[in-house]
Parts: sequence; C-alpha cells; structure tokens
Amino acid sequence: MCERHGCILIFLAFAAAFVNSCSAASAPDFIHPCNNTEPACLIKATQDAIPEFTKGLPQIGVPSLDPFIIDELPIQLPGIKVTFIDGKVTGLRKCEVLNVEAHLEKNVFVLEVRCNITIKGKYTAVGRLLLFSINGEGDAKIKIVNSIIKMNIKTKYFKDAEGRDHFGIKSYRYAFDYGERIHYTISNLFKGNPEISNTVLRFLNENWRVVTEEFGQPVVDYAMNVTIETAHKFFDAVPYDELLYVPLPKY
Ligand SMILES: *[C@@H]1O[C@H](CO)[C@@H](O)[C@H](O)[C@H]1NC(C)=O
Ligand SMILES: *[C@@H]1O[C@H](CO)[C@@H](O)[C@H](O)[C@H]1NC(C)=O
Ligand SMILES: *[C@@H]1O[C@H](CO)[C@@H](O)[C@H](O)[C@H]1NC(C)=O
Repeated sequence: MCERHGCILIFLAFAAAFVNSCSAASAPDFIHPCNNTEPACLIKATQDAIPEFTKGLPQIGVPSLDPFIIDELPIQLPGIKVTFIDGKVTGLRKCEVLNVEAHLEKNVFVLEVRCNITIKGKYTAVGRLLLFSINGEGDAKIKIVNSIIKMNIKTKYFKDAEGRDHFGIKSYRYAFDYGERIHYTISNLFKGNPEISNTVLRFLNENWRVVTEEFGQPVVDYAMNVTIETAHKFFDAVPYDELLYVPLPKY
C-alpha cells in the first residue's frame, strides 16, 4: 500500500527505468547496420543516420548537435580574450559524408565530412587582434562554407555488464580544413563606434583565412571534443552488434 502521490512517483520511476533499459538495449531505428565494412555501405549508413543522430537522443544522454548550444566559451588568445555567450551552432545535420572506413583488425575508424556550419551568439572581446585594439561587445555570426573535417579514431572494444561488445574510443586525431569561405558578421567591435567597427569587420572578412587561423583552433578543439564525447555516450549505450553486422576480431 502506498499513499496516492507516492504510487504515481513509484510508477513513473519504473516506467523511466523500463524506457531507459529498452533504449539502451537497442539501436535507434535510423541506424541501418552494414553487413560488411565496404566504404560504400558505411558512407550510406552514416549519411542516413546523421539527420536523426544530430537531433540528440535524450533517453540515452546524447545531447543535440544541431542545434548545439554553447552557454559560454571563453577563448584566451595571445593578446585578446574573447568570450562567446548564448551561442547556437547549426548545420551539422546537413553534413555530407565523404568517406567512412572501419578497419576492425587495426582498430582504426576514419570519418570525413563536408559541412556548412553557422555559429550565432553574443560575444565580448578585449585586447588586440592583428593590427587592431579591440574592446567590443555585441552579436556575432560566423558562417563556414564547405569546411572539411577528417577524423581518425583509434578504437577499442569492451564488454558491458551483460557481456555484450561495444565500440570504444581510445584516442583521436583530426584535421579541419576551413573550406572555401568564412563570413563574419560581428556588431559593435568597438563600443559605440560603428564606423571603425565596420572597417575592422570588413578587414576581418577580407582576410578571413589569416584571422581564422589565429583564433579558430580553440573553437574547433572544443567542437571536436564535444563531438567525441557525444560519440562516447552513444557507443556506451548501443552495443556493437546493433551497429555493424560484421563479427568483431578477437580482443
Ligand atoms: C544486410 O543483409 C540483410 C539480410 O540479407 C538485408 O536484409 C539488409 O538489407 C542488408 N543490409 C544492408 C545495409 O545492405
Ligand atoms: C554549402 O553551401 C554552399 C553554398 O551555399 C553549397 O553550394 C554547398 O552545396 C553546401 N554544402 C553542403 C555540404 O551542404
Ligand atoms: C574535453 O571535455 C572534457 C569533459 O567536458 C574535459 O574534461 C576535457 O578537458 C576536454 N578536453 C579538451 C581538449 O578540451
């Protein structure tokens, strides 16, 4: 016997546990496992999964990647401190998969995608950027066109408590090619001086490659870290035999 509200709580707790264990045991239906490791099949399966995967899988703790929310990201660079606030990153769900390789014996997984990415939010910036002394606060939008991201992941395999195999990530390297063009739209780079602000902004856009090389690295490192953490959560939750119908090598 339990008092009314207590009963409902207990029921909800059971329901939640049930939903949790169900989703942890089986892959979402947007995963179409390949029967072999031919890149053609892996590319298609990955391309099919991206639009849904990037929405996030809250039931297994996988956050949304599109939109991806950045509450606050401080970037300390030589000479300038930029803080990005209330940021929203969009576009990943439309990434085009260029290559996927799974070398099960060698524990190597390769992924190459081409993406248009838009980052929007508020910022503060104090210090010097190239020739300019900056003291700004306002809105920022960064549009990255046709960037190419190549990831090379060292995988490992492990068994969960029920003895099922899982993919794990041991380490990773990546290369990020900023692509064809980056458009910056940044308001108020110099507080209260729209003319200088616009001149500097024009300069940033005309020299987007140099500018991006100067401050892009920490942002990209952060983004890759988030992506890998997300993949970790996914592989922890979904057993290997639901992702790929190819026997694992002995490990
Ligand atoms: C794998 O093989 C099964 C059974 O032959 C087939 O139904 C399925 O479509 C194949 N999967 C892919 C991705 O080719
Ligand atoms: C990115 O945008 C450009 C220009 O709008 C377009 O030509 C290209 O196909 C897009 N690329 C992807 C991967 O969506
Ligand atoms: C990646 O994220 C984790 C957890 O949020 C953090 O502990 C780690 O320092 C981060 N690594 C990098 C290189 O930012």
